[in-house]
Amino acid sequence: MSFVTRRKPVAAAAHSESGHRLKPTLGWPHLVALGVGAIIGTGIYTLTGVAAGLAGPAVILSFAVAGGVCAFAALCYAEMASLTPQAGSAYTYAYVSLGELLAWIVGWSLILEYTLVCSAVSVGWAAYASGLIQQAGWPVPASLLAGPEAGGIVNLPAVFIALVVTGVLLIGTRESATVNFVLVVVKLVALAAFVAITLPTFDASHFSPFAPYGYGAVSAEDGRKFGVMGAAAIIFFAFYGFDAISTAAEEAKNPARDLTIGIVGSMALCTLIYMVVAAAALGATPFDVFSRSEEPLAFVLREMGQGAAASLIAGAAVVAMPTVIMVFMFGQSRVFFAMARDGLLPTRLATVSGRGVPTAVTLLTGLIAALIAGLVPLADIAALANAGTLAAFIATAVAVLVLRRRAPDLARPFRTPLVWLVAPAAIAGCLYLFTSLTAKTIVFFFVWNAVGVAVYLLYGRLKSRLA
Ligand code: ALA
Repeated sequence: MSFVTRRKPVAAAAHSESGHRLKPTLGWPHLVALGVGAIIGTGIYTLTGVAAGLAGPAVILSFAVAGGVCAFAALCYAEMASLTPQAGSAYTYAYVSLGELLAWIVGWSLILEYTLVCSAVSVGWAAYASGLIQQAGWPVPASLLAGPEAGGIVNLPAVFIALVVTGVLLIGTRESATVNFVLVVVKLVALAAFVAITLPTFDASHFSPFAPYGYGAVSAEDGRKFGVMGAAAIIFFAFYGFDAISTAAEEAKNPARDLTIGIVGSMALCTLIYMVVAAAALGATPFDVFSRSEEPLAFVLREMGQGAAASLIAGAAVVAMPTVIMVFMFGQSRVFFAMARDGLLPTRLATVSGRGVPTAVTLLTGLIAALIAGLVPLADIAALANAGTLAAFIATAVAVLVLRRRAPDLARPFRTPLVWLVAPAAIAGCLYLFTSLTAKTIVFFFVWNAVGVAVYLLYGRLKSRLA
């Protein structure tokens, strides 16, 4: 069989050579918490303001569009994850349905998603942390608080947080999941407090005019895209993360049931939370005021004269945002692990430590994420992460349809409802959001994958276990 079309069998149990198998230690509450931990972060805490600036009050619709596309994709992920409970997420789904070459391209795109989200959120976190460092009067030179494009040398706080999270992950999966659980509670309490404080001042006149920049994606001279769809392409960042749960498939105690609850449950919960938080922010302050702030939720509270509450929200963001880095770094190490186990990356990377952690890939992921976080600006990193994620979502939705056709009788613990409607809707929505990204991002995405294909032809094609 040619390397383009060779596929892994769906039912193949994960390769079980000792030292190449992950330990099943996670139940469904851990998986829902992993999902919420990955989803709620820079998106709602920072990008809400950016998106409101692009769409006006109609940003509520941008949330609904991005949430809808993600909900369709989540249903496809739930079917594939329960059918193929192996580490690797969309990469593995493409491998069992679309063939090795496309699987490699999806895996290579997932590096953009997972590693770059770690870097993006590290930079977002560093913005809050730098504020605290300066407030505290610590003598840290400004050149060590920003990367080269922002006039500094290196963004040291961003490097710091990426490395700290790597360290926690190296301790163990179960321990990391427990830390994540506690921080997720902090994050949820902070958002609930925000809504409780702002709702009593809700002013419906802030919603008029509703869509000052229209409903499409209109390019501005500076390369930004305004309108409901332009904002949806950005706010998409806030929603993903539920897919990271699927990378933990091998570590789930009861994958068929727990993965479905984890993926669909965390996605539904977060969509609800976002709509309520965004509406509360818009009702409390006109969008063109808070959209200018880099910490919009804290800003809204400060505008209301609630300084102490604003500091608490900002503090909660600093404490809790690292959960996003943690879950995505976890996800990246599992994707690398799966690719290495299949022989497409050096197999030494797939060795699991006595604590059940793939140590080499975790370290590798942490170091790369820290390096990028230290040197590259947030907007560029986040846009590229969106491109990689959209590619993975499309691949997963296509994989569901291909396997429904090719292997209709496979036991599917979770079946995507109305699959011939839901999966095409996910694909169409993702394609539309992809075209709403800036030209620079789209070009970089294709260059990145061209490099990936070259690496595959020189290495993975020859070393693959299926070769
Ligand atoms: N959804 C994640 C966030 O908003 C990536 O930070």
